[in-house]
Amino acid sequence: MVSRVIPVDPFDLVIFGGTGDLAQRKILPALFRRFCSGQWAEGVQIIGAARAVHDRTGFQTMVAESLRTHAAAQCQDEGALRAFLDRVDYVTLDGCSNEGWDQLSDKLNQDRVRAFYFSVGPRLFGPLAERIKAHDLATPSTRIVVEKPFGHDLESARALNATLAEYFRESQIYRIDHYLGKETVQNLMAVRFGNMLFEPLWNSQYVDHIQITVAESVGIDGREEYYERAGAMRDMMQNHLMQLLCLIAMEPPAKFDPDAVRDEKLKVIRALDQVQPHHIVRGQFDGGGSGNGYRETVGNPRSTTESYVALRAHISNWRWAGTPFYLRTGKRLVARSSVINVMFKDAPHSIFGEEAGRHANVLSIRLQPNEGITLKVTIKEPGPGGMRLVDVPLDMSFAEALGSGNQDPPDAYERLVMDVIRGNQTLFMRGDEVEAAWAWTDPIIAGWHARGDVPKPYESGSTGPGDAELLMKRDGRRWQGINP
Ligand code: BG6
Repeated sequence: MVSRVIPVDPFDLVIFGGTGDLAQRKILPALFRRFCSGQWAEGVQIIGAARAVHDRTGFQTMVAESLRTHAAAQCQDEGALRAFLDRVDYVTLDGCSNEGWDQLSDKLNQDRVRAFYFSVGPRLFGPLAERIKAHDLATPSTRIVVEKPFGHDLESARALNATLAEYFRESQIYRIDHYLGKETVQNLMAVRFGNMLFEPLWNSQYVDHIQITVAESVGIDGREEYYERAGAMRDMMQNHLMQLLCLIAMEPPAKFDPDAVRDEKLKVIRALDQVQPHHIVRGQFDGGGSGNGYRETVGNPRSTTESYVALRAHISNWRWAGTPFYLRTGKRLVARSSVINVMFKDAPHSIFGEEAGRHANVLSIRLQPNEGITLKVTIKEPGPGGMRLVDVPLDMSFAEALGSGNQDPPDAYERLVMDVIRGNQTLFMRGDEVEAAWAWTDPIIAGWHARGDVPKPYESGSTGPGDAELLMKRDGRRWQGINP
């Protein structure tokens, strides 16, 4: 089986913040890879826009350097690199004044999809949206793409939604959560809704609990200022883990279309109970005296920002009543590993007697790295000696199963940017979804502030604070390992 490239018509894509880190490291390399796949028609135009003064050639040189670092394999083909750069242009433009907007206007084509990517901080979303309208750049087929963080809390997210709604319809607004663009995250839906095998068991009658782990080995270097204000709850839990929870827990949508999928996700978020304080563990990595701890990194010896959070969530609906969802994420952990473990209940009765032990099935969906699925099943231990039971993994690595063409899944941004051009919002967050996620998150953070909560230290390179183990132990459960 090989991937299929669906061609797209010519489009104009303007990247505000085109000289910034995200544009250079993620968006432009993703565009280049799509270009190399032959997906684009002639005439596509990518316009970087930022305050920095560059001419077109200067910007193209900058982009070429970034591509050599972040899309090295494709850059082997100098001809392709040259052809891509020919499509790249630049305007010096100020989001908060009228400088540069006429030049931008002159470069845009009529009668084609026009996308404006806001690769800038949220404080510029409003001014940019206003100027796009004021300079008459918004055609009926215009879309805007906004990055996370989408607000800092419910109030700021509402304000952002209201500002954008003054200038654009919801169907024109693409809010990115890059986890939704990951191939394996989309695969969650394929596994659940493309197989008869799992769905009948996908409920509290058969599932004891679900664990969602997004562990990172990296720290926060280079992003200290942002992270100190955000912490793991805002940076990861409110968005990426929440999205994974939705995809795992939602009801089957009637079809794979943007509003059907997003309606079902929204229902999950709205059915979440408020998390009890004793069901949350916050942690902060320390450097064991090496000077590399969280507090040293941010230069604040009294910082109470969490770099780790684990919690137990409940979804109050018919499908999930009584099945806890344990979610955890953290920086500087033992390995980079994102896994969802669906822990099934024990068989109701063991015909082999208690001495054979109890063996529950576990379905592990590995999102990254080593994408794949493992189903732990129980079999008889081979050989004589009576009926002894043993767990064995039925293991499927996607790379092995799908062949060499799929060894290197496309980066999330490749998929997401092309979905913007195609006008498919399925993998983007709707305004009400973002607000509902903040409505669930805000009281948790407010509770920490009210109680003067201080995160528990954990060693860099560990699996997180010991209290996270206790969170499980109290319920007679334990976390699955964090393995690279
Ligand atoms: C970002 C967070 O949204 O996701 C980062 O701001 C985090 O803190 C990153 O490191 C993780 O993304 P990925 O794709 O590396 O799992």
